[in-house]
Amino acid sequence: MRGITMDSENAFSFKSSKRSPFMLRMVLLFVVMMFGVYIGFLCLKQTTVQMESTNRSIVSGGAVTRCEILNSSPNETIFVHFPQPKTYSRGECACTPVRFFVILSMQRSGSGWFETLLNSHPNISSHGEIFSVKQRKSNISSILMTLDSVYSLEWNNSAAKNECLSAVGFKWMLNQAIMVYHRQIANYFNWKGVSVIFLFRRNLLRKLVSVLANAYDKEAKQLNGTHKSHVHTKEEAEVLASFKPTLNTTSLIPNLSQVERIMVDSLQHFKSARHIILYYEDIINNSRALSNVQEFLKVPVRSLQSRQVKIHARPLSEQIENWADVSTTLRGTQYEHFLNHRNYIP
Ligand SMILES: *[C@@H]1O[C@H](CO)[C@@H](O)[C@H](O)[C@H]1NC(C)=O
Ligand SMILES: *[C@@H]1O[C@H](CO)[C@@H](O)[C@H](O)[C@H]1NC(C)=O
Ligand SMILES: *[C@@H]1O[C@H](CO)[C@@H](O)[C@H](O)[C@H]1NC(C)=O
Ligand SMILES: *[C@@H]1O[C@H](CO)[C@@H](O)[C@H](O)[C@H]1NC(C)=O
Ligand SMILES: *[C@@H]1O[C@H](CO)[C@@H](O)[C@H](O)[C@H]1NC(C)=O
Ligand SMILES: *[C@@H]1O[C@H](CO)[C@@H](O)[C@H](O)[C@H]1NC(C)=O
Ligand SMILES: *[C@@H]1O[C@H](CO)[C@@H](O)[C@H](O)[C@H]1NC(C)=O
Ligand SMILES: *[C@@H]1O[C@H](CO)[C@@H](O)[C@H](O)[C@H]1NC(C)=O
Ligand SMILES: *[C@@H]1O[C@H](CO)[C@@H](O)[C@H](O)[C@H]1NC(C)=O
Repeated sequence: MRGITMDSENAFSFKSSKRSPFMLRMVLLFVVMMFGVYIGFLCLKQTTVQMESTNRSIVSGGAVTRCEILNSSPNETIFVHFPQPKTYSRGECACTPVRFFVILSMQRSGSGWFETLLNSHPNISSHGEIFSVKQRKSNISSILMTLDSVYSLEWNNSAAKNECLSAVGFKWMLNQAIMVYHRQIANYFNWKGVSVIFLFRRNLLRKLVSVLANAYDKEAKQLNGTHKSHVHTKEEAEVLASFKPTLNTTSLIPNLSQVERIMVDSLQHFKSARHIILYYEDIINNSRALSNVQEFLKVPVRSLQSRQVKIHARPLSEQIENWADVSTTLRGTQYEHFLNHRNYIP
């Protein structure tokens, strides 16, 4: 009881003191002033952020040009770039925004075909398997330099559309050092705003048949003494598909699960980047798949063309020499559905 009385007394005596209303007012005034300054600061900060997000200055030919980013929310701007190549000028397209992408894929998963489809778009350049060259992937600095070169539009080959393109990238096979340096590369993707297209194949047994047949043709050179991984006519496709590989049933299941593990690991490593997961089977079967990719890359959607012809178009049972053994091996395992997969012809 006593304590309470004393407290209320103290409070009362403080309030009733003669000097305190003045002091209180001063304190209040100070607080209000500080609040005002703070609000002003916030507004200032917000306007600068907004200006940065809608207008970006670029220097071309000594003059500063401002490029306006249209229709994009502030958290989209990290994905929008205005590269200024050193070796040439983007001319009237200097302010055409460019998005960066990479296709992460594995051997015989339709990535070559997919790239020809992308490159049939007037605003997309996909530069192929640039990391098949050993020096470019021999260490992380070499890798990052190569990436910089592609994304600054300095990379030149037949797929380069340079001036007016709005999406630039390449395909990167998961066995080409990317899994070794995944941490640094994921940081690079996030920092540069590189969008990732995972391109996988659902039916890993078909993938394996294609890998083995392609390896065989490297030696056999069935098409008039030349080795071809991709073909443009049905006749050529039939010649290549006439070879039926024999699968080693001892290593079959370990091989399938190894491929699966690499797919899962790559998703784990690069899922922090903006990404889309695409399956070869869906590109063949689903007319929306290619539109989805174009929307993902923010390019005008159009119908994409490729001259490539599917090689192994027959049912699997006609494409594997030891089909009976293979089915016995896979039946009752998690991979059984690969056997039943319906035949599809593009
Ligand atoms: C961006 O630049 C355009 C053209 O230069 C100009 O009209 C517009 O007001 C600028 N926007 C901002 C937010 O500065
Ligand atoms: C910002 O990005 C997140 C995640 O990509 C998205 O869900 C959200 O809609 C975006 N915000 C705006 C304003 O676009
Ligand atoms: C696409 O490329 C064409 C031809 O170069 C160009 O006229 C057009 O402005 C580009 N469109 C976009 C959205 O980049
Ligand atoms: C990285 O690899 C490139 C090309 O093989 C080589 O020239 C360079 O010296 C290497 N750099 C380092 C730091 O090892
Ligand atoms: C790119 O290479 C082509 C030939 O492949 C050549 O005609 C063109 O001038 C080159 N462009 C640049 C900017 O180097
Ligand atoms: C092989 O060469 C002959 C003669 O040049 C040509 O007629 C034939 O079409 C070629 N076959 C294939 C599979 O390329
Ligand atoms: C499994 O992989 C090993 C090494 O990659 C290969 O030599 C072997 O032929 C593969 N087995 C089958 C059934 O393809
Ligand atoms: C099949 O694979 C097993 C395990 O990898 C290997 O020991 C064996 O030699 C292979 N058999 C043939 C015929 O290649
Ligand atoms: C293709 O689509 C049809 C129906 O939408 C489906 O039954 C079939 O299994 C699909 N084929 C593949 C290879 O995904």
